[in-house]
Amino acid sequence: MEEQLKTDFLEGMSRAATFVAVATTDGHRGRYGVTVSSMTSVSTEGDYPSLLICVHYMGMAASAMLANRGFCLNLLNEDQRDIANLFAGRDSDDHEERFDQLKWKTSPKGHPMIDGAVANFECQMATELWWKTHHIIVGEVTSVRLSDDSRPLLYGGRSYQRAVAIEG
Ligand SMILES: Cc1cc2nc3c(=O)[nH]c(=O)nc-3n(C[C@H](O)[C@H](O)[C@H](O)COP(=O)(O)O)c2cc1C
Repeated sequence: MEEQLKTDFLEGMSRAATFVAVATTDGHRGRYGVTVSSMTSVSTEGDYPSLLICVHYMGMAASAMLANRGFCLNLLNEDQRDIANLFAGRDSDDHEERFDQLKWKTSPKGHPMIDGAVANFECQMATELWWKTHHIIVGEVTSVRLSDDSRPLLYGGRSYQRAVAIEG
């Protein structure tokens, strides 16, 4: 790939503000979590709504989500930057230990639901595409928990942001 194309691509993408979520999973492959900004709503057709995330194939979380056949997508509140950093591996490499540092409950299908997240989407694995460095994982949402506080954490311009309404 031409170096300038890659640089321009990364700079262009850094200008997109995205939501910040932690995808968590538990099951026979163990308990893992990873911070993702790649969450996208896909469809409300069919028996369940669906969403997708893109997760790097090298991380433990991706293979655990695939093996456990499900995950919970925890859409973080603007006050949860510490949790985003924790699950981005910035403070600790031990996934089990990360879960000791926050409050969470077990979802109906057994995945960690992070307390205080603006929404918790519990997903069963629907399909997956391995594209170069990332697994594009589509989950069917089997349950949603909503918090009273709906201010989401954003990431854009290479830093955390909050959404501010534009008047008029
Ligand atoms: C704001 C933010 C968004 C991120 N989004 C993604 C993402 O969508 N997909 C991904 O694979 N990694 C993403 N990462 C990086 C992973 O969180 C990080 O590389 C990973 O947790 C480190 O691997 P480990 O959990 O095995 O330590 C993001 C990190 C941050 C801080």
